[in-house]
Amino acid sequence: MTARVGLVGLGRMGRAIAARLAEEGVDLHVWNRTPGKAEGLAVREAGTPAALAQATDIILVIVRDEAALEAIYKGPHGLCSVDLSGKTIVEMSTAAIQAIRDVLASANEAGAQVVDAPVSGSVQPARRGELLVMAGGEEAAVERASVVLTRIARRIVHVGPLGTGITMKLVVNLPLATYWQTLGEALGIGLRNGLTLDGMLAMIADSKAAIGALAGKIDRILDADLPPEFDLAGMAKDLTAMCCTARALDHPVPACDAARSSAVAAVDAGWGERDLAQLTRFAADRAAPSE
Ligand SMILES: NC(=O)c1ccc[n+]([C@@H]2O[C@H](COP(=O)([O-])OP(=O)(O)OC[C@H]3O[C@@H](n4cnc5c(N)ncnc54)[C@H](OP(=O)(O)O)[C@@H]3O)[C@@H](O)[C@H]2O)c1
Repeated sequence: MTARVGLVGLGRMGRAIAARLAEEGVDLHVWNRTPGKAEGLAVREAGTPAALAQATDIILVIVRDEAALEAIYKGPHGLCSVDLSGKTIVEMSTAAIQAIRDVLASANEAGAQVVDAPVSGSVQPARRGELLVMAGGEEAAVERASVVLTRIARRIVHVGPLGTGITMKLVVNLPLATYWQTLGEALGIGLRNGLTLDGMLAMIADSKAAIGALAGKIDRILDADLPPEFDLAGMAKDLTAMCCTARALDHPVPACDAARSSAVAAVDAGWGERDLAQLTRFAADRAAPSE
């Protein structure tokens, strides 16, 4: 690959993507707010997002939320503080649609081609290059981004114009997030009638009630101490983005509202750093009788 590649954000997803790209032989420049996160990776560290943008041609961004986007694009030494002509920004974070649109509009004003390209799939698929990418933007921009995305994705779908990638991601996330909530409610009924958690999960996994993500999450439903692939606080953030988006469209989403209030209650109860699948346990515990 002749393009010089940058990656902003070395959280769980960013680190997995960086490791995959480095393994693929990509000459990768990285920046992360907290230093030291690139340790053990064959990458070059930039001093600021602006310095990273100056040193590279195609820049991937995958950070936590709206506040992170604001800081990285528009903060001092942010991406938009330098001339981005000839560069392609690939925004992969999951956040409210308007926040993604805002920062990409600023990057575009600074001269960049822009793509919103959030992903479905977690740390292990990222590490194996098996993410599903939902890309929004102009054909030429998506094509240029694909030069890099193809190294980390099993499939890249060009969904439509700018903003449709993040919209598709929220559409995918909503039924997934509400699933963990309703699964927990169902398990709560079983628990109060004498069934066991692992027995019920094994039965559901072998039935039509299983979704694609369930098999990979059973361990993390049963064991709260396993390291999270994505934390419950992050899912509360995603559910908030979905509820806000629906509210702005005047579109009722009662199931999403319920899952969000449950996720927020779980975070308030100190469960925020657990894996998102622990929402199932939280909902099951709340549904079960207190002895
Ligand atoms: N994990 C998954 O399974 C998964 C799957 C699909 C999509 N996603 C999405 O991918 C994004 C990243 O997820 P993740 O699991 O990698 O999250 P994470 O492990 O919590 O990492 C968050 C990243 O954002 C950075 N960050 C947070 N606040 C910041 C700020 N104010 N300024 C600058 N940087 C900031 C963090 O930097 P520090 O190191 O300095 O904190 C870190 O690099 C999220 O939008 C998430 O919804 C995650």
